[in-house]
Amino acid sequence: MSIISHCTLDTLTKAAASLKAGALVIFPTETVYGLGADGDNEDAIARIYQVKDRPSDHPLIIHIGDINQMRYWISDISDYALSLARQFWPGSMTLILKRSVDVKDFITGGQESVGIRIPAHPLALQLLKEFHQLGGHGVAAPSANRFGRVSPTTADAAAQELQGYLAPEDLILDGGASVVGIESTVIDCLGARPKILRPGAISKEMIEEVTGLKVSEGGSLIRVSGALENHYAPIAQVFVGEVRSAGAGFIALESVATPDGHIRLASPRTIDEFGRVLYQGLRDADDKKLREVVIIPPEGEGLAVAIRDRIEKARTK
Ligand code: TXA
Ligand code: MG
Repeated sequence: MSIISHCTLDTLTKAAASLKAGALVIFPTETVYGLGADGDNEDAIARIYQVKDRPSDHPLIIHIGDINQMRYWISDISDYALSLARQFWPGSMTLILKRSVDVKDFITGGQESVGIRIPAHPLALQLLKEFHQLGGHGVAAPSANRFGRVSPTTADAAAQELQGYLAPEDLILDGGASVVGIESTVIDCLGARPKILRPGAISKEMIEEVTGLKVSEGGSLIRVSGALENHYAPIAQVFVGEVRSAGAGFIALESVATPDGHIRLASPRTIDEFGRVLYQGLRDADDKKLREVVIIPPEGEGLAVAIRDRIEKARTK
């Protein structure tokens, strides 16, 4: 495995060729780093599951560089889903749509739907465009972490997570720290109204404004690994909104004082910054070998909903 820290057009073309040849390429997105493989290549996709140690029936998101590339993957799209795609792509939003006959079960986990996203990161977009030029249809990419653990928001974090499991031909592209820091909003677009399966930076209010429809929330029969109870978790035990004993890590808005004996891991000034630093804060807790970390969740709507969702998933049950 090699890490490429200064990505040029040339290195991105080579990375796209590596993907086409069946290698795994870890690439930056604005949400979190993704572990990419050619979405048509069964062997490469099998390696994603191995590297992540992820159950093989959990569906993957297909990443494309342009809305026209959606045609290969889907058989149908409703008006409201198209409005969402036009408004929010490239961006932190994954649409769950009716799959086409070309999509294989190794992408969808055997379901009749497929998740699609155009990420908003210049390196990711260029990589996806180069991949398309080589005849590729799309890049399947889950977050570049071991199953159930914290998603990486930097190339170093991705390397730390997965380097022991990657092959010599695999690549990591360094595109700096992810600016959103929380995984994309997953929206089920199969019904008459959009349904949020996983909250993210594209909020319920934003979806309702663009579609003019009431967004339904709550359980879906579709399998979403990010909806499992214990997910996004560090090794340290995570406590929410309660003070622990001395030596515990502490993550809260800057305006919240550090309790006695706690070790401050992050002091975001805004909700956006909270999203950006949360996962790195949890990683720092593990790097410092802390046994416990306390998080004071931010209040409010929008991205704060997604942040509280991830904190709740990371919380030790
Ligand atoms: O921000 C993101 O979405 C990142 C970056 C790399 O794009 N990717 C990501 O992928 O978070 P992953 O695999 O870690 O989480 C994707 C979630 C999973 O919970 C998966 O089960 C769900 O989306 N998903 C994918 N395809 C689906 C489908 N057809 N139906 C329902 N859920 C689906
Ligand atoms: Mg994930």
